[in-house]
Amino acid sequence: MAGAVQSVVSLSKALPMNGGNGLYSYANNSTYQNKAIVAVKDLITEAIAEKLDTSLSSSNTICITEMGCSVGPNTFVAVQNIVEAVLNKYQNLVHDHSRLPEFLVFLNDHALNDFNTLFTSLPPDRNYYVAGVPGSFHGRLFPADSLHIVHTSYALQWLSQVPEEVEDVSSPAWNKGRVYYSSAGDQTVKAYEDQFAKDLDCFLHARAQEVVCGGLIMILVPGRLDTTPHDRVFSNISYDILGSCLMDMAKMGITSQEKVDSFNIPIYFSSPREVEATIEKNGYFSLERLECLPLEKSQDTIQQKARAVSYHIRAGLEFLLKEHFGNEIIMDELFDSFNKNLEKSQVFELGLTYSLFALLKRKTTLID
Ligand SMILES: C[S@@+](CC[C@H](N)C(=O)[O-])C[C@H]1O[C@@H](n2cnc3c(N)ncnc32)[C@H](O)[C@@H]1O
Repeated sequence: MAGAVQSVVSLSKALPMNGGNGLYSYANNSTYQNKAIVAVKDLITEAIAEKLDTSLSSSNTICITEMGCSVGPNTFVAVQNIVEAVLNKYQNLVHDHSRLPEFLVFLNDHALNDFNTLFTSLPPDRNYYVAGVPGSFHGRLFPADSLHIVHTSYALQWLSQVPEEVEDVSSPAWNKGRVYYSSAGDQTVKAYEDQFAKDLDCFLHARAQEVVCGGLIMILVPGRLDTTPHDRVFSNISYDILGSCLMDMAKMGITSQEKVDSFNIPIYFSSPREVEATIEKNGYFSLERLECLPLEKSQDTIQQKARAVSYHIRAGLEFLLKEHFGNEIIMDELFDSFNKNLEKSQVFELGLTYSLFALLKRKTTLID
């Protein structure tokens, strides 16, 4: 059994966000994700009020997992929203408040995540117990029937790997001259789309064993409308600009063309239709709600916005870039050029930003 658990936790490539509390840390550069978490607070409250079955837990403990938690502080906001919503629901149902549930929250991320920063910044006045669970959410992480609520925000867009054919020079999906799929050929786009569907299916398959029948999964993920072309998504345009900066560095001889050709960002922005099709095909969960929400545009100046985007993307991609390019590329130089190119680009006028929110309920019939 121990061997089986080991083999699933190493399923995906770990690409941690920048840890600590420094200038380029995730903790200090994730207000964009925070806005999305705040924007869905009412949807979460409604979901729990309407769909959480209060007889799910045979003890008085509700087990929640927050998957892809990174280092905070956003993860604590998301957890607090859920705990408050559950307490509200119970307060309306039980008159003896000493019988309100207790909460055990499992904070999950890859083992390389900066769990020290996460745990040292836990809210001191929290009304829930906490445990850390390292490993990939694309595989099993919990015993069978042990979870009541699963929440994940801004994590499922990370693919378990770059699709193999995108890195295969003999494949029509090979992504030469680019680091991302959004302005690539159809085969490259299809390879990314398929990888996302495969990864989401693995995530659901693992959760289907772990979540009790009637338990809920809440997914918040950056995405796009069914009608939004990939090259109009704000982040996608930004990644293409980053790619052109890397190409410029290759032309200047700072790195090689081959190194850029073999670098691809393992992120995919899905649409409601794609998410729905995967959930249906997977079959373990009913889709109770699916929303595509636009994110509020910032009123900052172009310079402020470019700096925020460049810090934000650095917090998320620095590990990956360093791993691939080693010391050839100096991060300050790359992100300085990225910042300048963002300022000159049309990304702030043309780029579209949406979040997808999906509420799933574990079906009561076991099909596996
Ligand atoms: C952009 S951060 C989101 C953090 C936080 N949920 C928030 O909304 O601010 C994405 C996190 O998902 C984690 N992640 C990506 N793929 C994962 C996987 N397969 N298993 C566990 N964590 C994963 C990353 O390591 C990263 O910490």
